[in-house]
Amino acid sequence: MPTHQSLGGASDEELLQRMVATHGERFEATFWAFFDAHVGRRLPPRAVMIDLGCGPGLLLRDLGERYPDAVLYGYDVTPAMIAYGRQLVFKAASATFAIHDVVAQPLPLAAATVNLASMSSVLHVFDEPLPTLAEIRRVLVPGGIFLLNDWIRQPLSAYLAYRRDVMKESGPDSLRRAFRLFPVHSKYTAEDWRWLLGEAGFEILAQTELRASHRIFVATPAR
Ligand SMILES: C[S@@+](CC[C@H](N)C(=O)[O-])C[C@H]1O[C@@H](n2cnc3c(N)ncnc32)[C@H](O)[C@@H]1O
Repeated sequence: MPTHQSLGGASDEELLQRMVATHGERFEATFWAFFDAHVGRRLPPRAVMIDLGCGPGLLLRDLGERYPDAVLYGYDVTPAMIAYGRQLVFKAASATFAIHDVVAQPLPLAAATVNLASMSSVLHVFDEPLPTLAEIRRVLVPGGIFLLNDWIRQPLSAYLAYRRDVMKESGPDSLRRAFRLFPVHSKYTAEDWRWLLGEAGFEILAQTELRASHRIFVATPAR
């Protein structure tokens, strides 16, 4: 199942717990400083925001704290993720979660209705990302923002050191999983992501590496 690739065969529950446990360190002060500088000022007060492969919905919850008039949608193919998101308390005007396979089905949203689309550590899992990028382009308003945050290729030694030192993994099972996941997480270089965004008709407005493992892109439909 592609949904499990990101944790190398972990169960839905394990993936959920991992996403919840690491949320705070993945979306911390430097992320929000980057967000405020490059995304926040481009959003209207009553923005429509969607998170594709939203996992437990915690990024949407955080967005709702910052944008109480926002209308939020979270889509994920894993029922346990959506169940978790639905029991969160939101400050936003509304928050809707739906079980939805982003690869198999179009988004249940009209064209040009979304101000912010986010995908975090999801797109690398898809066999072919271009149809999903086209669908994101369809739903974004002119000047809308696509925030792509995903793994980038690292040397094997750096990847193993990252899992050991930053993710605090140890032991033979973890090492086996690290080797299994290395090709999944090393699929695209930062240059590949840039090329894919351009190929899909996006212009890149800003990008950064808050962690050596990931690159964040702020993109908008090219005019
Ligand atoms: C590594 S998790 C990231 C979750 C969340 N974005 C975060 O950063 O906390 C990847 C998520 O993508 C979801 N996913 C994988 N394939 C999907 C698909 N085809 N459609 C929708 N969601 C998908 C998984 O269920 C999982 O929740």
